[in-house]
Amino acid sequence: MPLLAVLWPTLAAAGLALAADGARAQMSGQQVYETSCASCHATGVADAPKFGDKAKWAKLIEEPQAQLTAHGWIGVRAMPPVGGNANLSLEEFSRGVAYMARAAGARWADPDAQMMAAIKDEIIKRIEEVRRAGAKLP
Ligand code: HEC
Repeated sequence: MPLLAVLWPTLAAAGLALAADGARAQMSGQQVYETSCASCHATGVADAPKFGDKAKWAKLIEEPQAQLTAHGWIGVRAMPPVGGNANLSLEEFSRGVAYMARAAGARWADPDAQMMAAIKDEIIKRIEEVRRAGAKLP
C-alpha cells in the first residue's frame, strides 16, 4: 500500500497531531539523516540532491523552510513520502530536512513549536493542492 495511504487517515483523523512515539527518544537531524536519508542523499540516487551540494540545494533552500519540509514529507517525484521511513515523527523528519539544508548553507534551525505549526499548515495545503489537481498522492 502506498505510504501516504497509510499516513493520510492518521493525519486527517488526528488533525495532524502526529503523536511522537512516547516510548522512543526523538532522533537528532543528523541521526535522521544517517538512518533514513543518506541511502539516497549521500550519493544522489535517482537524482536526489546530494548532501552538502550547495549548487543542487540552492533553489530548494530559497523556499520557506515550512514549505520545503512539507513537500518532502508528502513526497516529490522519486522522493518517497517521509523519506520512506514511516517510523519517523514529523518533527524528526523536519529536523532531518533542516540538517541537510544547513549542510548546504541554509540557516535553518531545528523546528520549534511555531515552525512545526507552519509545517503542518503547509502539509494540509499541499494535500489539498494535489487533490484539486486530480493527481494521486504518492
Ligand atoms: C529512496 C531515496 C530517497 C530517500 C531515502 C530520501 N530521499 Fe529525499 N529525495 C530523493 C529524490 C530522488 C529527490 C529529488 C526529487 C525531485 O525533485 O525529483 C529528493 C528530494 C528531497 C527534498 C527536496 C524536495 C523538493 O521539494 O524538491 C527534500 C527536502 C528531501 N528529499 C528530504 C529528505 C529527507 C529529510 C530524507 C530522510 C528522512 C530523505 N529525503 C530520504 C530521494 C530520497
